[in-house]
Amino acid sequence: MSVVVLGSANADLVVEVARRPAAGETVLGSDTRIMPGGKGANTAVAAARAGAEVALVAAVGTDDYGTFLLDALREAGVDTTGVRRVPTPTGLAYITLTPDGENSIIVSPGANSRLTAADVDLGEAAVLVASLEVPIPVVEHAVALAVREGVRPVVNLSPVAELSAATIAALDPLVVNEHEAKVLADYSHGDGPRSTVITLGARGALVITADGSEHIPAPQVEAVDTTGAGDAFTGALAARLADGATLAEATRHAITHAAESVTRHGAQG
Ligand code: ATP
Ligand code: RIB
Repeated sequence: MSVVVLGSANADLVVEVARRPAAGETVLGSDTRIMPGGKGANTAVAAARAGAEVALVAAVGTDDYGTFLLDALREAGVDTTGVRRVPTPTGLAYITLTPDGENSIIVSPGANSRLTAADVDLGEAAVLVASLEVPIPVVEHAVALAVREGVRPVVNLSPVAELSAATIAALDPLVVNEHEAKVLADYSHGDGPRSTVITLGARGALVITADGSEHIPAPQVEAVDTTGAGDAFTGALAARLADGATLAEATRHAITHAAESVTRHGAQG
C-alpha cells in the first residue's frame, strides 16, 4: 500500500439552486442527486485514479448509504479493509450548488465520529493523508504514528480545526485553501509545518518549502462543480509524493487532476 487516507466518508445530497436562501427564506431547487463523497473517501478515490495503491481508514453506518459508499470506493480500486461499519447513521453532507459551480455544505458526521485511534493502521504506506471531518485526536495519533514509522504525513486542514504544534510541525506538507491559510497565523506559537501548499482555486497553488516558494498556475477550464476540488488535489498530490516526486512536481500533477475534477459533477467525478 503506498498511500493510507484517514478521513470521512459521506453520502452527498446535492441540490442545485439559482441562489442560496437567506435566513428565513425558502427557494425551490432541482431534484436531489445522491453521490458518494466525504473528504477522506474523495481523497482516496483521487489517489487511486492517479495510480497509487490506496487504503482508506474510515467509518460508515450499517445502513444503505454505507453500502453505497463502500461500493463506490471498491469500484475506484480503494482498499476498504480499514473502513469499519458501525451502528450509527452514515455521514451525510447537505450540499447546495449554484450556477457558478460554487457550493455550500453542511456535514452531519454520524459514523465518522465513531472512528478511534485503534482503527489506524499505516501498514507499509509511504504517505499518510488526513483531513479533519473525523475526531481530531485520531488525526493527531495517526500523524504521530506516521512520524514513528517513517511515513510522510500530509494533512488537508479542512474543515479548519486546531491541531497541536507537534502535529503541525511534522506535516510535509500541510495543505490549506486561501480561507484556511488565514488561520495559520494562529499557529505562530509552534515551528510551523515542514512544507505548505496553499491552493488558490482557479489560480492554482503556492508551494512553500525551506528553499522558498513557487506559484504554479492552473489550466483554464469551465468549472461546473468545485465540490471536492481540494480533495482531488490532495489525493493526486499524495499519489505522486508516494512515487518519490518532489513537492513542486507533485503539485503540478495535482493541479491538472483537480482542474479536470471541477469540470464534472460530484465530489468523486
Ligand atoms: P473545495 O472546498 O471546493 O474542495 P478548496 O477550497 O479546498 O476546494 P481550492 O483552492 O478551491 O480548494 O481548489 C483546489 C485546487 O483545485 C486548486 O489548487 C486548483 O488546482 C483546482 N481548482 C479549483 N477550482 C478550479 C478552477 N475553477 N479551475 C481550475 N482549477 C481549479
Ligand atoms: O470536500 C468535499 C466534501 O466535503 C463533500 O464530498 C462532502 O461530503 C464534505 O465532506
